Amino acid sequence: MCGIVGYNGKNQAAEILLAGLEKLEYRGYDSAGMAFQTEDGLVQYKEKGRVADLRKAVDGSLESSVGIGHTRWATHGVPDRKNSHPHQSATGRFTLVHNGVIENYEKLKNSYLKDVPFASDTDTEVIVQLVEHFAEEGLMTGEAFRKALSLLHGSYAIALLDEQAPEMIFVAKNRSPLLVGVSEDCNVVASDAMAMLQVTDQFIELHDGEVVLLGRGGVTIETLEGEKIERAPYTAELDMSDIEKGTYPHYMLKEIDEQPGVIRKIMEAYSTEDGTLTIEPAIRQAFRRADRLYIIAAGTSYHAGLVGKEYIEKLAGLPAEVHISSEFGYNMPLLSEKPLFLFITQSGETADSRQVLVKVKALGYPAITMTNVPGSTLSREADHTLLLHAGPEIAVASTKAYTAQLAVLAISAYCLGDGACDFDLKQELGIAANAIETLTDAKQEMESLAAELLDNKRNAFFLGRGLDYYVSLEGALKLKEISYIQAEGFAGGELKHGTIALIEEGTPVIALATQRNVSANLRGNVKEVTARGANACIISMEGDSEPGDRLILPHIHDLLTPLAAVIPLQLLSYYASLQRGCDVDKPRNLAKSVTVE
Ligand code: F6R
Repeated sequence: MCGIVGYNGKNQAAEILLAGLEKLEYRGYDSAGMAFQTEDGLVQYKEKGRVADLRKAVDGSLESSVGIGHTRWATHGVPDRKNSHPHQSATGRFTLVHNGVIENYEKLKNSYLKDVPFASDTDTEVIVQLVEHFAEEGLMTGEAFRKALSLLHGSYAIALLDEQAPEMIFVAKNRSPLLVGVSEDCNVVASDAMAMLQVTDQFIELHDGEVVLLGRGGVTIETLEGEKIERAPYTAELDMSDIEKGTYPHYMLKEIDEQPGVIRKIMEAYSTEDGTLTIEPAIRQAFRRADRLYIIAAGTSYHAGLVGKEYIEKLAGLPAEVHISSEFGYNMPLLSEKPLFLFITQSGETADSRQVLVKVKALGYPAITMTNVPGSTLSREADHTLLLHAGPEIAVASTKAYTAQLAVLAISAYCLGDGACDFDLKQELGIAANAIETLTDAKQEMESLAAELLDNKRNAFFLGRGLDYYVSLEGALKLKEISYIQAEGFAGGELKHGTIALIEEGTPVIALATQRNVSANLRGNVKEVTARGANACIISMEGDSEPGDRLILPHIHDLLTPLAAVIPLQLLSYYASLQRGCDVDKPRNLAKSVTVE
């Protein structure tokens, strides 16, 4: 979702900000803009569409070393030029970019800004108009900014320019991600370290309710009340190659291919020196104290949670429930006596999940965040973090983070079971990683399958039972989000309770048959749909396959089959998206990091 960059330094800001915005494109957006302090006053550019369009609009001879930039994912007001950021105060003195949602903007407008002409339909504009309102009442910029912030209800990451203080960027954060980057040549601000890795790898975390004065020569962090905060920078351990596509046509394909390596990296990260799988003692303790695990997540992470519940119950013997975060927070079920909460979130920033974390912390319950992003909001705010070690995931459609989530869930459950299982998980994960490698090599086959099954189709169904059902939900999500084919995942037996009415000649049905205990039932369900004209494609596993199965996965441990079964579904979605000419890495309307509820 919206991304912010800001630069205050010795060099020309425009190219640095444009390159930064390009790095934030993965978050999802529909317009982009920038503003610069120049000798002739403030200059701004905004465009609906891509950063590439913004790049074309920028005057090549622009001279400025202080600027802010923004990619907008529309919430209030349609995606157009008028609503894209930056927004300016009525006189043009203040200019601001914002990520988040101001819940009380209407009320603030009516209370303070009745006579002010608004230029956009956004909630954001109220902030910049408020700053001007208080400055006109005689407050210095910093004070006017704080006063405005103190009135806001909602989430924000803000970078503000004042034409009368051209050497400074005013920054604030509450519940939306924002980092400050520091170096000898410049100080910067960004929603994500990868946007500013081009100028520094030294970043300072910002906490909610903090305000930053970002000068060229230094950075001051303060609380909203003006109390100074000292916080040392950390080194962002990101490699430029992690965030470049390299020779791949799309990030999604690169990330699909990275999955075997990710599984191996996770095994290493969760091993003791003698090679035994392990999790932190404090996390083990938290699980030990709990009488029930509540897994909270959204989207793909929710699908991983469904598989995780099976792992936790089967390997660790702890009852577990999985909940969609946007539902759970507003309709909490009766909780057990000693609940433990596990938040699964690739980004660590998902607002739907965060609102639950805030609520359960207020109730005094322990929480663990499983995330790919160390230092992310949910990681900081939970008691413990389980890291995914998947490396930056840039494509909007999650692939390697999902398999990483499955692997870390399996390891956690296995370690909690104290090795009482009748198999060696490390060895089995190694076998799974090899199987994934074999499957990612089957690209041509998946490309042909996508054409054969999905060409010109309006809808598609995914069937599975047991763990395969959970993978079918993920397969359907992948296909619909990047190819726009309406796709649904079903428990094998469920289709005939209504949805089978949609099956007609040629309807694609992708059926997963890797679970031996229910594969006969699943095959029966496939017969039901083929009898009604469906074009069924069965994906089974070595040792339990039948003639006519379209794809046979290498044999891996029954519990780990989701790690392999999801790979053909990811590739199928990728090729279906390509064949339809869709934007694979940046599907319409979607954002990578969903920072609003
Ligand atoms: C789909 C996808 C989303 C995310 C969801 C939660 O490919 O990526 O469904 O899984 O938005 O995001 P995180 O895991 O960052 O909380």
